[in-house]
Amino acid sequence: MEEYLTIALPKGKLFSLSADLLKKVGYTAEGLSEKSRKLVISNDKDKIRFIITKTADVPTYVEYGAADIGVIGKDVLLESDKDVYELLDLGFGACHLMMATPKDKKREKLTDYANTRVATKFPHIAEEFFAKKGMQMEYIKLNGSIELGPIVGLSESIVDIVETGTTLRENNLEEIAYIMDLTARLIANRVSFQTKFERIEKLVADLKRVLEEEYANN
Ligand code: PRP
Repeated sequence: MEEYLTIALPKGKLFSLSADLLKKVGYTAEGLSEKSRKLVISNDKDKIRFIITKTADVPTYVEYGAADIGVIGKDVLLESDKDVYELLDLGFGACHLMMATPKDKKREKLTDYANTRVATKFPHIAEEFFAKKGMQMEYIKLNGSIELGPIVGLSESIVDIVETGTTLRENNLEEIAYIMDLTARLIANRVSFQTKFERIEKLVADLKRVLEEEYANN
């Protein structure tokens, strides 16, 4: 009898994009919704199980094999530094990571911010970026509404995600350094990738085909 394939989906912006894409390749379950209070949603006929978790926890479930595969933003994946396979760039959830500061407190050059405080959800990625520039910084870890940091004097700058630019504009912040582009990724547990290889490989091939078709039609 075929085993279940357990898929971890993150709550938030990536949920519906992930669920819609997976549905196109036949991976869905009745009642699969971000609003569901049920945290495990199964499709017994097709042996698929979905778990819905906080975004930052997806790589943990996958690393430990509690989920075989998962969908997660590259930002969270890099920051988590978990030992998982990155199978596929899903293309959606596109945004970029950058450093920003209040417009009226802008300094002349990036290195003028050395040894100042930066608020971020991504201290590891930020540290790697600043270290390459030869800059030491003080990192203040926040879990959301990062833009508030410099407005209330918690930090001089932020390292955060920009999608449309609206949040920066509405808070009089200006991007001063680009760090990296980001998209959603499909990841797999290393053991599951071997023990459920054929199933995962077929899923990846089907997803690639759908993504290519979508790309060609846009
Ligand atoms: C993200 C990010 C920015 C915002 C950027 O926050 O941290 O605040 O989106 O998007 P924009 O460029 O389109 O304005 P999110 O909405 O995920 O919430 P959070 O602040 O609680 O992390």
